[in-house]
Parts: sequence; C-alpha cells; structure tokens
Amino acid sequence: MHTGAQYHQFFLTSRRDLEVRDRFQRTAMAMLPHGADVLDFGAGTGIDAKAYAAHGHRTYVYEPSPAMREHLLAYCSEELDRRTVVSIDSASECKVSAVTANFAVLNHFADHAQLFEQLSTIVRKGGFVLASMLNPYYLGDARYGWWLANAFHLLRRGHYAIASESRIHRFAPRVVARSAAPHFHLERIEPGGLRMATQLYMFLLFRRR
Ligand SMILES: C[S@@+](CC[C@H](N)C(=O)[O-])C[C@H]1O[C@@H](n2cnc3c(N)ncnc32)[C@H](O)[C@@H]1O
Repeated sequence: MHTGAQYHQFFLTSRRDLEVRDRFQRTAMAMLPHGADVLDFGAGTGIDAKAYAAHGHRTYVYEPSPAMREHLLAYCSEELDRRTVVSIDSASECKVSAVTANFAVLNHFADHAQLFEQLSTIVRKGGFVLASMLNPYYLGDARYGWWLANAFHLLRRGHYAIASESRIHRFAPRVVARSAAPHFHLERIEPGGLRMATQLYMFLLFRRR
C-alpha cells in the first residue's frame, strides 16, 4: 500500500510512467478548448492537476483516498489558493468540458454504467472523458500465472479481476464502451493494432453525445 508521498515519488521518477503521463497530458490538453475547465477524477497526488492548471485550465480534483488527497493539498497548495485547482468532495459538484482519469482510476470499478451516468451530468455536450486504463492485452503480463488463467474470461466476457490485486479489474475496451454508450461514444483507442500488445496502459477517449 502506498502513502501519498511514496506514490508521488515513484511516479515522478519512473521513466516509463513519466513518458506515459506526458503522452496522456498532451493528449488531453490538445483536445481541451482554450481555458476550458476540467475534472481530474481520481486525481491522486495532483500531478496532472498542477500541469493542467499551469496551462490555463481550472482543474477540479476529486480524490477519495485521504493519503493521496493530503499529498495533493500540499503539492497544489498555491493553485488551491488561487482557485486554479479546486478540490471537491463529489464529482457532481462541477460542470466541465472534460474529465480525465489517468493511471488506472477506472480499473477500480467493477462496472462503469453508473459512473458514466454520473459523468454525463458533469460533462457538457461535445465534451470528453479521457481514461488511461490497464491494458488487458499487454503481453508483458503474460509471464504471470494470472494472465493466462484469465485469458479465457477476457475472450468470453471481456473483463476479469485478479484475486491478489484487490478491487482491480481489467476490461476489453468494448466492455467499457458498452457501459458508456447511453451517454458517450468511444471515439479513439490508443495504441492501435499490434502495438496494443506492447503497452501496459491504453488510452480510451469517450465523446459526450
Ligand atoms: C494509480 S492512482 C492514479 C492517480 C492519478 N490519477 C495519477 O495520475 O497519478 C489511482 C487512483 O484512483 C483513485 N480511486 C480509487 N477508487 C476510486 C473511485 N471509486 N473514484 C475515484 N477515484 C478512485 C485512487 O484513490 C487513486 O488515487
């Protein structure tokens, strides 16, 4: 179990994660209209929120873990004072152009239907949800016994959970897309094609209908 400080230190020093984070932030900011507000859902220690705020996007942060939130409040204290970062106790407290959920936040959910229902009341029409999720097809995980044991569930049901990783679920994009479908359509999946087998994280972009 990470404390906020350990998590923060790890994610700011791991080269692979820094590269993925940079790509995620650039993807989000390239699509955000100038000066648009964003909700960082499951904001962790505030690494992305600080970056979005620095680029002129008021960033609402929702983070349920007290340890993560405590670190966020310290790391983003200046932005919180200026209200360029705004901490909220429920995601429904804001109305935004986009929601970001970086580094496996949505893998904490067993089902996404209710979540997308809630997000549909938060994201303006034409806005987006960008999520980075653990990629169930990543071949780097094939060395683990659980990967092969769950390949059947993945093919058949499109999702599985690993008993040793409490409350972490892995999903084929189509399963998340089905849950989102009443309100959002899956516009883009990255990486595409065979590169899917080589990346631990996949980015899913959902557009508000
Ligand atoms: C791997 S961390 C990623 C944190 C942050 N997004 C980042 O990029 O560093 C996953 C986060 O999901 C949050 N989380 C877990 N369950 C959640 C839920 N039901 N709603 C929102 N966030 C949740 C955790 O508290 C944790 O901060």
